[in-house]
Amino acid sequence: MATRDKRPTTETPFSFGKIAQEQDFTDRKEETAHLVSNFESLVNTILISPRRWGKSSLVAKAASLAEQRNTDLRVCALDLFNVHNEEAFYAQLTQCVLKATASKWEEIIGAIKKFFAGLVPKISLSSDPNQDISVEFDWKEVKQKPDEILNLAEKIAQEKGVRIIVCIDEFQNIADFDDPVFFQKRLRSHWQRHRHVAYCLYGSKRHMMMDVFTNASMPFYKFGDLLFLEKISKADWIPFLKERFRSTGKQIETAAAERIADLADCHPYYVQQLAQQSWFRTQNRCTPQTVAEAHAALVGQLSLLFVNLSDNLTAQQLNLLKAIHSGESSLTSAAVLKKYGINSSASVIRSKQALIEKDILDDQGGKLSFQDPIFAYWLKHEYFKIR
Ligand SMILES: Nc1ncnc2c1ncn2[C@@H]1O[C@H](COP(=O)(O)OP(=O)(O)OP(=O)(O)O)[C@@H](O)[C@H]1O
Ligand SMILES: [Mg+2]
Repeated sequence: MATRDKRPTTETPFSFGKIAQEQDFTDRKEETAHLVSNFESLVNTILISPRRWGKSSLVAKAASLAEQRNTDLRVCALDLFNVHNEEAFYAQLTQCVLKATASKWEEIIGAIKKFFAGLVPKISLSSDPNQDISVEFDWKEVKQKPDEILNLAEKIAQEKGVRIIVCIDEFQNIADFDDPVFFQKRLRSHWQRHRHVAYCLYGSKRHMMMDVFTNASMPFYKFGDLLFLEKISKADWIPFLKERFRSTGKQIETAAAERIADLADCHPYYVQQLAQQSWFRTQNRCTPQTVAEAHAALVGQLSLLFVNLSDNLTAQQLNLLKAIHSGESSLTSAAVLKKYGINSSASVIRSKQALIEKDILDDQGGKLSFQDPIFAYWLKHEYFKIR
């Protein structure tokens, strides 16, 4: 039996909630090649998908491949998850550019002396070169003139003869900063002049990302190559699931692997989670029945969360979800409004907007779908009891 990895069989071969890498990462060959080629040619890239479809994993994979193949390429990655204002953004950007381009703290100090003339950042360093550095600026000075920070990557790239890719995760958070349009104008006016640096901006709030990048009146309009990440196909999940079971000495029937992909609606995070629960329940051979039990357990485990989620929806929003779940296509027709107790067609539009903003629904060019397949299942079967 071929076992590609050396993990003991008691250790689960599935991973979720972390960056998927090495044997946990499947498929995405085309997307990976596309991103690597954009990085190598310094093409700005915008990557959008709903939550947990694998953006961060894909960018991490492409970044590491691009760095392996190109010794003059440096990737610096920052995550705006916890960054809620411009000041924190500048500190993070500086920190990550310095860390990606200097291997020793002496080099970092050297770079600060060289590239900061107007601004004087305060740096705290650990004596361990692998430890984080932390950067602080005098906010009043930065606010007036952030140029040295926004051009830092380009200046370092020129000086060192390298190419730099700045990857910014959860980029949609900048829409919540004070005066976000002014801030975006600032970023774009600097970044569009960079010749040795490219930007990869990605995030999960499709409607906010779309507004930032596809609205002609916004500064980032046509900033780069816009990619919409798809889910991973069932045809790719099946061999992956089989191989991961096999690597621990267990088997999974094809029908059971298909069932995992179907029940998780090919959603990468949930496929891995459901596969893990199925694997736990498998002695030797995983069958569709094992998967059904694992799925029921997963729905049960998440149901408290789903009760809270549905408690936060209005009656009109729930009525609309019920109509969608029942397969209604003309949601604003008089018959549908009456049947589901929806007040008016304006209410349909309002509820739809709110559900998209709450990340319950995803709108792909007018086609609505549930973002969370397990929540969708729970709503249908446990809450609405639609058969
Ligand atoms: N290529 C892949 N192969 C296998 N599993 C994957 C892959 N990409 C993602 N996953 C699964 O999905 C989970 C979420 O991936 P990741 O964190 O990269 O998504 P994301 O889109 O960045 O999520 P978020 O919107 O929460 O930031 C991973 O922990 C892993 O279980
Ligand atoms: Mg992510």
